[in-house]
Formats: sequence, C-alpha cells, structure tokens
Amino acid sequence: MRKRIVAGNWKMNKNLTEALSLTSEVVNMVRDEVRGDVEVVLCTPFIYLTSLKKYTDEVTRISLGAQNCHQNASGAYTGEVSAAMLASIEVPYVLVGHSERRQYFGENDELLAQKVKIALENGLKPIFCCGESLQQRQNEDFLAIVKAQLTASLFDLSPEDFGKVVIAYEPIWAIGTGLTASSDQAQEMHAELRAHVASHYGAQVADDTTILYGGSCNEKNAAELFACPDVDGGLIGGASLKSREFTNIVKARM
Ligand code: PGA
Repeated sequence: MRKRIVAGNWKMNKNLTEALSLTSEVVNMVRDEVRGDVEVVLCTPFIYLTSLKKYTDEVTRISLGAQNCHQNASGAYTGEVSAAMLASIEVPYVLVGHSERRQYFGENDELLAQKVKIALENGLKPIFCCGESLQQRQNEDFLAIVKAQLTASLFDLSPEDFGKVVIAYEPIWAIGTGLTASSDQAQEMHAELRAHVASHYGAQVADDTTILYGGSCNEKNAAELFACPDVDGGLIGGASLKSREFTNIVKARM
C-alpha cells in the first residue's frame, strides 16, 4: 500500500531559535496526537538539518528533508549542497523541482532529471514537484503539461528507482496565493498522473506511488482534499510554519 505523507516546506523562513521551537512543538504534538500510518517530513533550510535531527529522531514517523540538492556529485560549485552531503547527515528526503526553483533558478526538466538521479544514487527519496501556471490552466491542455513534466524528469528511471520517488502536484496558481485547487480539481489531476504512471510503469507501480497535493493547503481545507482517493497527503508551505496548524493538517490525513 502506498504511503501517506504530510510534508512541510519551510522555504527560506525561521532563524535557528525559531526552527528549534517549531520542530520540538511539532514533534511533541505529533507524538501525542497522531495515530495511524501517516509519515511527517519537515523540509527545512539546509543549515538546520543536523540540529533538528535530534528532535525528529525521537519519533519514528517524523523525518527530515532538504529543499534542494545539486545535480553534480561534488566539486567547484560554490554555495551548493550535494546529495552525498545530505546522505552523510542521514536526511532521507529531498524536494526536487519546486516551482520556485523552476521559476527563480531556471531549473528545467532535464536538470531536474539529473537531480532526481543523483538523489536516488545517494539513497535519498526525492519529492518531485510538478504543476501548471495559471495561464497554462486557462489556455492550454494543463493535464498534458503536467504529465509531460513527469515524463521528462522521471520516466527514464527503472521501476525500482521510480518506486522511491514521491510526487507532489502543486498548481503554481495555488502556491502561497490562498487559492486552493478544489478537491475535484486535485482529484482530476492526481488520477490523471496516476494513470500516466500506470501507462509507463504498470498498474502496480502506479498504485504504490504516493502523490501529494500542495498549494494553499491549510487546516480548514486539508480534510476535504485528503478525502480524494488519489490524494495521498500534502506538501504544505505557509501552514507548516505554525506547529498547531501543521499538526492539525497531519491529523486530517490520519
Ligand atoms: P503554500 O506552499 O502551502 O504556502 O501554498 C506550498 C509549497 O510551495 O510547497
């Protein structure tokens, strides 16, 4: 059975003191209140990962993720962080291809395929983000656009490697805007992506693929989104910065 995951994407927020308090609050609330098989992933800025690990190690269902990694193994890439470095501090997950990386850092499908590959080679589990812009949703075949993102960056993987990838569908028009996709819109895309995976890897792999929804998901709308049969959890931005709200979203996935 596929995993249910609620992941927080802190983006470039919180200083060290705030990061420690947020994490310890989330760890305590999740330990005390969350039952069932949902897995919680905190994708924090790189520099906090080692300090936060001692908190997240306390609860088996909580783990850490990075928000990015470089596509090359090592070398003269000032300011970058490699997949091997993340593996060496035992960070299990890494976000790849968030729309902000695509938009502000020029990351394209080909580069993201390299990042997914090197993450997997180092034993990390990529959370691969995909999604369409507002203009694409209004003017073009947005289902085909998002499916093409999967094809271009993931479909060269072996079925075994693909099985380690988590997909996060994040319509760009819903990220940080307060405009959430309706549950019908989310379900339509998730079902379409699952069918697309099935067409390439077969029904079993598709059925085992975790597909998260992201984009203005909050404690009010999470339960309705998570009730969709093909929505396996969420990738949460703004609402992951508040421990109570984030934990309530995790509980909506229980
Ligand atoms: P949001 O961000 O929840 O603040 O819309 C989601 C994301 O960017 O992953």
